[in-house]
Amino acid sequence: MNVSVFGLGYVGCVSAACLARLGHKVIGCDVNPQKVQLINAGQSTIVEDEIGDIVRVSVAEKRLSATDDALATILNTEISLVCVGTPSNENGSLNLDYVKACCISIGESLARKTDYHVVVIRSTMLPGSIRETVVPALEKASGKVAGKDFGLCINPEFLREGSSVKDFHHPPYTVIGTWADKAADVLEAMYASLEAPVLRVPVEAAEMIKYASNSYHAVKICFANEMGRLCKAAGVDSHILMDVFCQDDKLNISRAYLKPGFAFGGSCLPKDVRALNYFARATDTDTPLLGSLIPSNQAHLDQALRLICRGGRRKIGIVGLSFKPGTDDLRESPIVLLVEYLIGRGYPLRIHDANVQISRLFGANRQYIEKEVPHIEKLMSPTLGELIAFADVLVVGHGQADLLQYDLQGKEVIELERLEKKPATAVSQGLGW
Ligand SMILES: NC(=O)c1ccc[n+]([C@@H]2O[C@H](COP(=O)([O-])OP(=O)(O)OC[C@H]3O[C@@H](n4cnc5c(N)ncnc54)[C@H](O)[C@@H]3O)[C@@H](O)[C@H]2O)c1
Repeated sequence: MNVSVFGLGYVGCVSAACLARLGHKVIGCDVNPQKVQLINAGQSTIVEDEIGDIVRVSVAEKRLSATDDALATILNTEISLVCVGTPSNENGSLNLDYVKACCISIGESLARKTDYHVVVIRSTMLPGSIRETVVPALEKASGKVAGKDFGLCINPEFLREGSSVKDFHHPPYTVIGTWADKAADVLEAMYASLEAPVLRVPVEAAEMIKYASNSYHAVKICFANEMGRLCKAAGVDSHILMDVFCQDDKLNISRAYLKPGFAFGGSCLPKDVRALNYFARATDTDTPLLGSLIPSNQAHLDQALRLICRGGRRKIGIVGLSFKPGTDDLRESPIVLLVEYLIGRGYPLRIHDANVQISRLFGANRQYIEKEVPHIEKLMSPTLGELIAFADVLVVGHGQADLLQYDLQGKEVIELERLEKKPATAVSQGLGW
C-alpha cells in the first residue's frame, strides 16, 4: 500500500521504517526539515536497535522517502498515520496543538483529493479528543465529512523505546477505534502481515486503552519498588520474593481482580493491607502506593453512597450482603459498611442474601455483624421477591442472576457489580460503567 506517516519522531520513524520493511511504499512527512533530510539521506531520526539498517535499506530500495509537503504526501498515499507529539502542558493537561495543526494540514490536502483516504491517529490522546479536536479540525479544513467522505480511525501504539522495532513487529494486539468499517478494513489490510489479534472497539475505548496500559505499568513499577523497599527493611531478598510472586499466574499475573466492580473487603485484604502499611510506618519506609489502597477503596464506597443517596430518601433494598458471592462471610464486607452508613442516615432498608441466615452465623463472623449492625436480623428479607416489593431502589452487590426473574417496573437499580443482563424495565446505573 501507499502509506504516509506524519511526524518522524520515535513512533513515526519506527512505523515508517517498519511499514516499508513490510513491503509498503512509505512517505514520511515532518515539519522539521532536519528529520526530512536525515530520512532522505538514509539515516534514522532516532537511536534504536536495527532502525538504522532498516531506514538505510528502505530508502535505497525507494520504499521510504520523506518530505515536508503535506499536500504531496496526501495525494500520493491512500492512508496516513498521524504520529505527532502530544506533550504535557505545564499544569499536566494534554497538549493537542500538534495534532490539531497536523489535522488542519491533512484536511486542507484532503480538500484537493477526490479519492477515498484514511486518516489514522496513532498519537496518544484522552477520550473525547477525536470527536472534539480531530474531527472538527479535519472536517473544517477539508469541507468533508469524517466516516463518509474520508476514513478516520484511532490506532494506539504500544511500542517501547529501546525495543521499538521488535515491539512494532510483535505487538500484543492491534486496537482499532472507528465508526466506519471501511476505514478499519483499509487499516487492517495494512497490518495484514503482522501476527497479532485485531480488536475493533469504540473510538473512546481505543483512546483510553493506552492510558490504562501506561498507568497500569506505572502501578506495577511502583508496586515492585515499594515491595523492594519493604523487603529491604524486613531483610527479605526482594528478587526471590517477586520471582515467587510472578509465578502465581492464577491471581497475581492474570485477569483476576481487573474488572471494575465494588470495593474490596473480607477477612483478609483490608487486614493484610493495614498490617503491611503499619509495618512500613514502623520501619520508616515510605510506601505511598500501598498507603493509597485503603483511601482508594473508601473513595469507591463513598461514590456508591452518593449514587444511592442522590435520589433522596427512598426505600433501599440491598441484594447480596457477604463480601463476595458464594460465601456467608460478612467480615469487613464493603456492603455491610454501606448498610451501616445508610442506617446511620436513617434510610428505610432491607437486605436479602441467599447465603446469609443471621441465626446460623457463628464465631468471628457473627461477632463482627452483631457489633457492626446490631439487630440486623430484623432487616433481612427471606426472599428476593419480598425485598423487591419493599424497595424503591435496589442496590445489587451480587445474587444478580435471580433478579432477572422479576418484573422491576418502576424500580431503580444501582449496580455495585455490573449486571451482565439487564433486568426487564429497570432503570439501572453502575458505579464505574
Ligand atoms: N515514544 C514512545 O515510546 C511512544 C510510544 C507509544 C505512543 N507514543 C505516542 O506517540 C506520539 C508521538 O510520540 P513520539 O515520541 O514519536 O514524539 P516525538 O516528539 O519524538 O515526534 C513527534 C514528531 O512530530 C513532528 N511534528 C509535529 N507537528 C507536525 C506536523 N504538523 N506535521 C508533521 N509532523 C509534525 C515533530 O517534528 C516530531 O518529529 C505521542 O502521542 C506519544 O505519546 C509514544
